[in-house]
Amino acid sequence: MSWTKICKATDVAPNSLKKFWIAGGIPIVVANYGSGYAAMPPVCPHMEEPLEESGVISNCVLTCTKHLWAWNLQTLEMSGTETEKPIKTYDCKEENGDILAFVEAEILYDFDDDDDMDDDAFFNKSS
Ligand code: FES
Repeated sequence: MSWTKICKATDVAPNSLKKFWIAGGIPIVVANYGSGYAAMPPVCPHMEEPLEESGVISNCVLTCTKHLWAWNLQTLEMSGTETEKPIKTYDCKEENGDILAFVEAEILYDFDDDDDMDDDAFFNKSS
């Protein structure tokens, strides 16, 4: 594939995320972080939480509210103290009011079977 139109820039409000499907059945979440856009797989790299539902964006930082992993969408650096894996993104650009992503193949995460932290473990880890 190549540059693919995902949506109109106006389809995604500032500081929000929205999920789209492109040809080939590939799901992509577009994040509008205020000063730009990012396109990424639809799940958190931690435990597959749907980012469209659990992601919040503030000051260019996307936080998955499930266990507070976070990434700066401008620099793609990990943010906060909980984050253990980088977020993967598609190259993304805005052109003539459209958001395009460069998609060669669907980006998928390797989820470790031994990463078995559940919500109880997370919320009780300091006790
Ligand atoms: S599932 Fe997103 S931080 Fe854990």
